Amino acid sequence: MTTQEERTRSQLRFPTGFSWGAATSAYQIEGAVTADGRGTSIWDTFTRTPGRVVGGEHADVTIDHYHRYRDDVRIMADLGLSAYRFSVSWPRIQPDGSGQINQKGLDFYKRLTDELLAHGIDPWLTLYHWDLPQTLEDAGGWPNRDTALRFADYAAVVHEALHDRVHTWSTVNEPWCAAFLGYASGEHAPGRREPENAIRAAHHLNLAHGLAVQAMDARRVGGCVNLYAITPAGSSEEDLDAARRIDGLQNRFFLDALLTGRYPQDVLDDLAMDLSFVEDGDLKTINAPIDLLLVNYYSRFTVSGAAGGGRASAAAAPVETASPWIGSEHVSFVNAGRPVTSMGWEIDESGLLEVLRRVARDYPPVALVISENGAAFDDVLEGERVHDAERRAYLEAHLRVCREAIDSGVPLEGYFAWSLMDNFEWAWGYGKRFGLVHVDYETQRRLLKDSALWYAEIIRQNRRHE
Ligand code: NOJ
Repeated sequence: MTTQEERTRSQLRFPTGFSWGAATSAYQIEGAVTADGRGTSIWDTFTRTPGRVVGGEHADVTIDHYHRYRDDVRIMADLGLSAYRFSVSWPRIQPDGSGQINQKGLDFYKRLTDELLAHGIDPWLTLYHWDLPQTLEDAGGWPNRDTALRFADYAAVVHEALHDRVHTWSTVNEPWCAAFLGYASGEHAPGRREPENAIRAAHHLNLAHGLAVQAMDARRVGGCVNLYAITPAGSSEEDLDAARRIDGLQNRFFLDALLTGRYPQDVLDDLAMDLSFVEDGDLKTINAPIDLLLVNYYSRFTVSGAAGGGRASAAAAPVETASPWIGSEHVSFVNAGRPVTSMGWEIDESGLLEVLRRVARDYPPVALVISENGAAFDDVLEGERVHDAERRAYLEAHLRVCREAIDSGVPLEGYFAWSLMDNFEWAWGYGKRFGLVHVDYETQRRLLKDSALWYAEIIRQNRRHE
């Protein structure tokens, strides 16, 4: 072993009991959209609407995990994963979003979790990863308070059915995206461009989180946020204020609500809107005690207060959309010159350290987990191999930072790579590959990329004394 390799290994040595995982979500991998009584979700509708997804792609089949879950669990076992984060499709459980429970839908997740447990893999269940039943959207969607109440009922149903198998639960994946890409920019389903309704949606997604935590009384439960490191482009007052605004809407609106039971006053002031939909007691509910905070981290935003508005190329949407940044019209996103992934997202692992330390320093103590981290690159299949050195480097750099965070006292308990397998990347369709495992979309053949082999080796070294 070279000295360099030795150094890498010691930097990637983690405490015993650290969760080594990979993540996926239902709509992105399952397919089988009409199987066994599943209802229609907003993503089924959205992908059917011309001009919404690159190339008009949809996830009717995607990588067919619904039928191939056994093979996929075998892959996870081959990688040595100790945990797998997946989501439950609400319209499989309640085709109309309320009332009638579809037993066959629940049975799928029983089979999946049984299979995971049989392979010694801990199932981490996410209740909502953006596939809202269409019936609930027709009744107003997330801007409608009732959706949060329906979500709590759904959470109780899933918890009742699976609590004997699943010990770690999370509520809403990335509420920022569900609210602002779904209801402000229109980049995601349901594709509405109604800024004020996006704020209502954000509040009701937070409320849904709190109500679900209360309804489940789960052994271990957390909320999931997508946090960004945010830097002002320069030192002008405009740039500093732009950074404050974006940080407010992206990070603090969710962190403060979940962890302290307050919305940041400066954000409310910026919004300057009627907030009477925030009812007495809501923030106390949102602040329901949680056991862990799941953090998805991908990149850093560098923002400028120079007029221009919207998002610059660094974070551009694939199809024509509005800006998701309500109340921040005079903000632009600047490319700071770092290398980018094929999403155009700048690679900056120091942002992950910043984000982790900030949560540990500025908020009441809570265990943290990186529930998503990873990168899309233009992979090339060469015979039986994908030499995805850039993805491997990305993962390695971010894992090192995780170790540094732990060394500096951050209570970080696990890491989940996004994603286990290539899959349907929302409005971008299949063109963006995030997987550790390559999927041939014609044949459904799965193939471990070099990054997967590397990750498996890191996990093996870490778990050999367990
Ligand atoms: C966050 C989302 O949770 C996931 O669904 C998505 O595929 C990744 N980021 C990559 O964009």
